Amino acid sequence: MSESRLESPSLAAPAARPRVLSGIRPTGAAFQLGNYLGAVRHWAAMQDEAECFFFLADLHALTEVPDPERLRARTRSSAAELLAMGVDPARSAVFAQSHLPQHAELAWVLGCLTGFGEASRMTQFKEKGASSSSGATVGLFYYPVLQAADILMYQADSVPIGEDQRQHLELTRDLAQRFNARYGQTFVVPGPYVGKAGARIKDLQEPGRKMSKTIGGAGTLWVLDEPKVLMKKVRSAVTDTGREVVFDVDAKPGISNLMTILSEASGTPVDDVQQRFAGAGYGDFKAAVADAVVELFAPVRARYAELMSDPGELDRVLADGAARAGEVAETTMAAVRDRIGLLPPSVRVPAPL
Ligand code: TYM
Repeated sequence: MSESRLESPSLAAPAARPRVLSGIRPTGAAFQLGNYLGAVRHWAAMQDEAECFFFLADLHALTEVPDPERLRARTRSSAAELLAMGVDPARSAVFAQSHLPQHAELAWVLGCLTGFGEASRMTQFKEKGASSSSGATVGLFYYPVLQAADILMYQADSVPIGEDQRQHLELTRDLAQRFNARYGQTFVVPGPYVGKAGARIKDLQEPGRKMSKTIGGAGTLWVLDEPKVLMKKVRSAVTDTGREVVFDVDAKPGISNLMTILSEASGTPVDDVQQRFAGAGYGDFKAAVADAVVELFAPVRARYAELMSDPGELDRVLADGAARAGEVAETTMAAVRDRIGLLPPSVRVPAPL
C-alpha cells in the first residue's frame, strides 16, 4: 500500500497495520448519498484492517463562510452521522480538524513548497471561483494545501475518497515527494483508494454533475431524509425519453446513475439490475431504487437520532479522537520543524555581549 515508510529515528516506527485517513466537510443539510457510497462506507469497512483516522474538515468548511452557530451545530451532528454510518470510535480516531492546530501549521509549511501555478490548476478552485467576479478567497485557493497537510500529518498510506478528490491527492503526493527530496525522508507518499463504482454519484435533477451537499436541492438524497422525501426525489429524477433500463452513461446519464445507485445500495451487480428490469417501465424501476435507498438509510436515521440525544458523548468521542490524533500530529510536526530549521522554543538565544 505504501510507497515509503518513515526512516528517521525521530519519527514513529512503522505501524503494524497500514494507516488510513480521510475527511469530510461538516456542510450541507446532512451528508448525501455520494458521500456515503463514494467515501464513508469504505471508511467503515477498513476499520479492522487498518489504523484509521477520520475527521470533520471544519477549517475547510470555512471557505463557504457558514454561520458560526450553524457550523458548531453541524460539526457535532456530522460526528453523529459518521458514527451512525458505521464509523466506530472504538476502532478509529474520529476528530475535528480545528482541534489540532498542527493542521494549519503544516499547511503553511507546505504552502511554501507549492507553486502558484500548481495551486491555480486545481479543478475545484477553477470551478468554484477562479473568476475575479466570484468573490473567491485566498482560503479557497489554499484549500488543497490544507488538505495535503491533513493527509501527510498522519503518514497515511491510503486515503479513501470519491473521484472528485483525486487531483487533490495528486498534489499531496507531489508535495510529499518534494519535501522528502529537499529535507530528507519525512512523509509517507499516500495512495488514493477510490471505489470501482459509486465514486461519482450524480445529481438526480442534473445527471451531468455530481451530487453535492453544497448545492443540495431536489437532486440530492440526504442521508437523513425521511423515506417519503427520498421516494419523491427518486420519483422525480430526470431520465430520458426512452423506455429501456439500460446502462449507458453517455446516452442515458440519469438512468445509468439510478442503476449505479440501486446496484451499490442493494449490493446487486449492474448487469443483474439491467436483466431484472428488462421490459419494465421507468416507474417500477424508480420504485425499486427508492426502496433500496430507504432501506439503506433507515438504520442510519434511527442510530443518528439515538446519538444526537447525548451530545456530551459526541463531544467526548471528538475529544478522545483528538487526543489520539494529536500524538501522531505532534510527532510529525516535531520532525518537520526540526528539518526545516525552526528554532525550538526551549532554546535560549544568547544575550548580546
Ligand atoms: P467532501 O466533504 O466534499 O466529501 C466527502 C467525501 O465524499 C466524496 N463525495 C462523493 N463521492 C461520490 N459521489 C459524490 N457525488 C460525492 N460527493 C462527495 C468526496 O470525494 C469525499 O471523499 N476536500 C474534502 C475534505 C477533506 C479531505 C481531507 C478528504 C479535507 N481534508 C483529507 C480526504 C483527505 C471534501 O471537501 O470532501
